[in-house]
Amino acid sequence: MTTIVEKTSYRDKLLDHKSELLDFLFNFSPIRPRTFADLGGVWGVEGAYSLYAMDEHKCQAGYLVDTHPTEKVLEYVEQTPGLNFIQGNFGEAETIAQVPRVDCVFLFDVLLHQVKPNWDVVLRRYAKKTNCFVIYNQQWAGSPNTTRLLELGKEAYFASTPHDPEHPVYRDLFNKLDTKHPDYENRNWRDVHHVWQWGITNGELEAVLKDLGYRKTYFADFGSFGGLKTFVNHAFIWRR
Ligand SMILES: C[S@@+](CC[C@H](N)C(=O)[O-])C[C@H]1O[C@@H](n2cnc3c(N)ncnc32)[C@H](O)[C@@H]1O
Repeated sequence: MTTIVEKTSYRDKLLDHKSELLDFLFNFSPIRPRTFADLGGVWGVEGAYSLYAMDEHKCQAGYLVDTHPTEKVLEYVEQTPGLNFIQGNFGEAETIAQVPRVDCVFLFDVLLHQVKPNWDVVLRRYAKKTNCFVIYNQQWAGSPNTTRLLELGKEAYFASTPHDPEHPVYRDLFNKLDTKHPDYENRNWRDVHHVWQWGITNGELEAVLKDLGYRKTYFADFGSFGGLKTFVNHAFIWRR
């Protein structure tokens, strides 16, 4: 009995917008996807979208990739045949080499965090692994161009993003951008995914994916993120 409660409790973490995006993907794709990579699927959700894809949509294999696993996620992976956990920075060659070719790649709330390599390079690298990107991202509406948020300066950064400058992750950020982040050997705070990094416009996302040969087959606009004028929640499926 305990096991059943444990196994289904991941569902409490699902956000309707994203689980419905996955329902659309699995129920209405021309060929039903059977394998996926869920890039950055841990924080706040404990692998819930990987588990949903395995459990609800009966995928054969899934690769959940994150720098920071939790005990709960590792337990879920252990209990879920076909689901694999890969620890590492999903933008780096060493990690990418461990991800096999898959039917689709999920990037949920992670694209705007990608630096060194930047978000567009991440897409280019995974274009070698998949013909379908499923993206849910806070897209930039703060200006006409894609913007490296840290370059806005402290005041505009905190006015544009949902973060409290006194939150432990963000406290003193602008004074320590060029000092080493404690979790990494070779990364300064300026280049970690833990803080919001990019404001990506729909136009630029589209340009990168079109250049890689993908076309947009699904789009949904879920409106402002956290009441901000600068970020909107958008969902996409891109195929080629
Ligand atoms: C904002 S949370 C998003 C969690 C989940 N995908 C969701 O939709 O709520 C970002 C997660 O992605 C991971 N992450 C972000 N960039 C990463 C990268 N380049 N390599 C590995 N993990 C990354 C973080 O560790 C964290 O678990």
